[in-house]
Amino acid sequence: MRVGVLTGGGDCPGLNAVIRAIVRTGAYDHDFEFVGFRDGWRGPLERDIQLLDVQAVRGILPRGGTILGSSRTNPLADSATQDGKTGLRRITENLADLGVDALIAIGGEDTLGVASRLSQAGVKVVGVPKTIDNDLGATDYTFGFDTAVNIAMEAIDRLHTTAESHHRALIVEVMGRNAGWIALHAGMAGGANVILIPEHPFDIEGVCEYVRQRFETRYAPIVVVAEGAQQKTSAQLEDVRLDAFGHARLGGVGQLLAEEIERRTGNEARATVLGHIQRGGTPTAFDRVLATRFGIHAIRAVADGKSGIMVALRGTEIVQVPIAEAVGELKLVPPERYAEAEIFFG
Ligand code: F6P
Repeated sequence: MRVGVLTGGGDCPGLNAVIRAIVRTGAYDHDFEFVGFRDGWRGPLERDIQLLDVQAVRGILPRGGTILGSSRTNPLADSATQDGKTGLRRITENLADLGVDALIAIGGEDTLGVASRLSQAGVKVVGVPKTIDNDLGATDYTFGFDTAVNIAMEAIDRLHTTAESHHRALIVEVMGRNAGWIALHAGMAGGANVILIPEHPFDIEGVCEYVRQRFETRYAPIVVVAEGAQQKTSAQLEDVRLDAFGHARLGGVGQLLAEEIERRTGNEARATVLGHIQRGGTPTAFDRVLATRFGIHAIRAVADGKSGIMVALRGTEIVQVPIAEAVGELKLVPPERYAEAEIFFG
């Protein structure tokens, strides 16, 4: 059997661990051959392939990024249609020409959405959930999230000491798109004095009150803000830049917040944007193990002839769920989880 593998969307620590586990398990246990597709859906659209065998995956377990490359290429977009053939049809034909019997798509909501459509069109596809945002409904955790949280926590630890030396408020902007998981976990682990998440629009005067309270102690305030956080009263952003799947490119709320806090409290406030540092570099032990287990179970699902399913973590078990279920619902921070963090504000 010949199995195609691709990684799509934003990269994420642990992708290489998944690829390694798929290839090693598939080659040793099932005698499968592999075809690596480069840069997400661009690979099967343009037949851009790379060698993927046991030798090619040696040494990649601790490496960040993805040896296959990634992109946000969207085969469902009109621009993917060429010579009257839709993106999905081009992919289906290219897979057949290359003798690929099944495809493993490692990605987030967008990559898996395309995987779901391909499986409905008759292609054998198994999905592996990936995103640092941890916002996929069908799995308790995605790999990459733990690494991102640890990177943000270490940054917060460092910011505490410099904020105290200079009696400044430091605002830390973290990723997460429309979910506040990274901000919530990193903020709680790092002892932030305020955590702002998209699920709970903030009142700027309330934030400033926490900042003032903190300055009354000998410590300086650290505010962790998720890139998608919004003020209760703010109007919808206009003129936003969109990616190929129509998502707004977020960022900038940390700087706006710092300026407003400084203006209202009279204390110096500076913003730090962690950005892609959260996605780069070596995965934590938790992410390496989760990614490896996802890879093993994905190739076993292929060997069992499964299609249209995604591997997922439920408790400590790896289970299979329909891909459609995984992409149907975004997992957001519930109010009671935010309330736990709020106990430590100010
Ligand atoms: O989905 C992962 C993520 O890192 C989000 O947290 C962030 O909003 C987005 O991707 C950034 O995308 P890009 O890689 O296009 O900068």
